[in-house]
Amino acid sequence: IQRLTLLWSQKGVCIMEEIDKEKLPHHIAIIMDGNGRWAKKKFLNRISGHIKGVKAVREVVTACRELGIKVLTLYAFSIENWRRPAEEVNALMGLLKEYLQKECAEMVQNNIRLNAIGRVEDLPLDVQTTLRETLEKTKPCDGMILNLALSYGGRSEILHAVQGILSDLQKGKSKLEEMTVQRFHEYLWTHGIPDPDLLIRTSGEFRVSNFLLWQIAYTELYVTDTLWPDFDRKELLKAIADYQSRERRFGLTSEQLNGREE
Ligand code: IPE
Ligand code: IPE
Ligand code: MG
Repeated sequence: IQRLTLLWSQKGVCIMEEIDKEKLPHHIAIIMDGNGRWAKKKFLNRISGHIKGVKAVREVVTACRELGIKVLTLYAFSIENWRRPAEEVNALMGLLKEYLQKECAEMVQNNIRLNAIGRVEDLPLDVQTTLRETLEKTKPCDGMILNLALSYGGRSEILHAVQGILSDLQKGKSKLEEMTVQRFHEYLWTHGIPDPDLLIRTSGEFRVSNFLLWQIAYTELYVTDTLWPDFDRKELLKAIADYQSRERRFGLTSEQLNGREE
């Protein structure tokens, strides 16, 4: 059936029919990888790949909003990415600033609230200013959260949470024996945001590259060979259809889930 669906969608028939609107993932996270390889294939420089990557971001954000996805987290820049050549880092920072400036009005119009996770204080000051402005302007929006991971690292996030907990313990604001998994989450950069249901990685690499380490404990993983600049609405729907074909057991048996056994 799935192969048929793919054939159909390639012939231009909408894969949308295959998506169950009642069982959409609440939160989709994406590791947007492969801009460099996309550019190389076309004998272009890596930066051209990132420019095309921004177009894919726009298409996927719009598609998620239209579908009614509640949270979309995009891995835009990792802590490790600072070690790339300065020219590439500067270009990425420029693209980020430009994206925020260009898309702000449309985000507000489409009721999308921007959120940022990561060591935002590492970003160039002008980018931080633009980011703060966009966060402020989109604050009243509640249709979807666009959560950008910027200078993000999962291990740093966990360490940051532990530091916060220790500091609250010292101040007597909390007690060690009262710490729970739920409370721990409140110290993470993603506090207030439910864990991702679906994690998509483009470009075929089967690794998480320090992304949302705590949060993906029970997330469904989907890896596609498609390079990020080629990822579009159709690819997103394919990933969601695949997600909907899975049985999320959370440690239970299939019989328990289907109510055949107590
Ligand atoms: C993802 O594409 C974008 C960022 C990491 C910022 P890459 O730049 O990692 O592309 P590849 O992996 O070299 O193809
Ligand atoms: C992950 O991609 C980071 C982002 C998509 C921002 P990388 O290209 O940096 O990951 P590795 O180096 O292949 O693990
Ligand atoms: Mg990469």
